[in-house]
Amino acid sequence: MRRLLVLVLSALLATAAVGTAAADERIIGGERASIEANPWAVHLTDVRGNQFCGGTLVAPAKVLTAAHCALGRSPRDLRVVAGREDKQDRRSGVSVAPVSIWIHKQYVSADKGEDVAVLTLPEALPYEPLPFAEEADAALYEPGTRVRVLGWGRTAENGRTSRYLLQATVPVQPDDYCLDAYPQFVSADMFCAGYEGGRVDTCQGDSGGPVVVGGKLIGVTSWGEGCARRGKPGVYVQLSRYAQDLRPVVYPES
Ligand code: ARG
Repeated sequence: MRRLLVLVLSALLATAAVGTAAADERIIGGERASIEANPWAVHLTDVRGNQFCGGTLVAPAKVLTAAHCALGRSPRDLRVVAGREDKQDRRSGVSVAPVSIWIHKQYVSADKGEDVAVLTLPEALPYEPLPFAEEADAALYEPGTRVRVLGWGRTAENGRTSRYLLQATVPVQPDDYCLDAYPQFVSADMFCAGYEGGRVDTCQGDSGGPVVVGGKLIGVTSWGEGCARRGKPGVYVQLSRYAQDLRPVVYPES
């Protein structure tokens, strides 16, 4: 009886696993997300319209992204695309060049931390911004917290980027797990998230994009080894740690 139960259960689990793998064509292991429900989600393109990163509208004319997405680019080589879920739908939303780029002054490389940048737009956009986490929001990074990641990045490690906005939910992992996966992980400045078995993750092209929980932007997609690999979680900027540096840039008038 016990043996039979185990057999039936493992058969059920195997079927569930196959079901998940078949649906894997999204972020990686995610699903479609609407721009109406996530109006602050933006993507970055070059002048020819090739999407290479994500970002989040954190104030009407300010986009938070990763430093490694903005480094070495001049504002006129960059476009922020907002209000557009389908990258090919030129009639929805807007594509605007920022007027200036701020990159964290201590930024060296994504895996050393400080992977944050702010793009200032020429005018306020008609989309609802998402506030970023502050010093008092430490509880949002508790291990086990299920956070939502969004983007138009690759849907497989060596695959193509997504035409549509996708989302996935992943659990925050404890710092010792992140450190085991990546010796260079900096606990004070980053957090990592993903299932131990992999399968669900952000990937190339999602960088700079939002990690959301409790109606707040808590992270920025930053780096990882491959995508959705077992034991290799995605690594994200721990935004609460940078709130002090970001406030004067995002809210210069106050
Ligand atoms: N650095 C990548 C980018 O530029 C994001 C990588 C995220 N990797 C991961 N396994 N979660 O788009």
